[in-house]
Amino acid sequence: MKRIAVFVSGSGSNLQVLLDRSAAGNLGGASVVLVVCDKPQAKAVVRAEEAGVPSLVLIPKEFPDKAAYETRILEELRARQVDFVVLAGYMRLVGPTLLDAYGGRILNLHPSLLPMFPGKDAIGQALEAGVEETGVTVHFVDEGMDTGPVIAQERIKIERNETRETLTAKIQSVEHKLLPRVVADFAAGKIQMGGGRT
Ligand code: GRF
Repeated sequence: MKRIAVFVSGSGSNLQVLLDRSAAGNLGGASVVLVVCDKPQAKAVVRAEEAGVPSLVLIPKEFPDKAAYETRILEELRARQVDFVVLAGYMRLVGPTLLDAYGGRILNLHPSLLPMFPGKDAIGQALEAGVEETGVTVHFVDEGMDTGPVIAQERIKIERNETRETLTAKIQSVEHKLLPRVVADFAAGKIQMGGGRT
């Protein structure tokens, strides 16, 4: 059985899907054993608690630097024998401390068809650009901002009368299917990163 840590900063609707599938034994034999959160007020922390999964809630600015912050996380990942990490709405760049230890074993979910619209507010960026489609990407994390090798993508059409609300709802419903599928495949050893590619 693979042991997963999910990193979050916000609402945690994707975390919820992973928690539910983990509890139901429907995640490629993987189990969510830890939630890491950088925002004490995040709803995701409540979701972890309700699911009975331990969470590590840290305030990055209380650490001298990013390396110290990530070293604390790494201790916990090792103590709980975490096999791989899923970033599900974790609004922070992963630094060398975690990348060196978990390179090729950190997946991120992003609400656009990367390499289009990396970084913050990808949904707003797509609407602003007036493009006809956007989508969802799951990719391996490297040192860049949403730049690692793509694992899976799904397209979403942007209608003429699309609003931020309607597009967000469409994106979320795709994310809630795509992310657990990729996580299950990765846990089952069907996906790997090598030589900077998937
Ligand atoms: C998702 O849209 C994900 O793509 C992005 O942050 C959002 C997190 O949503 N990285 P939630 O917290 O899982 O509801």
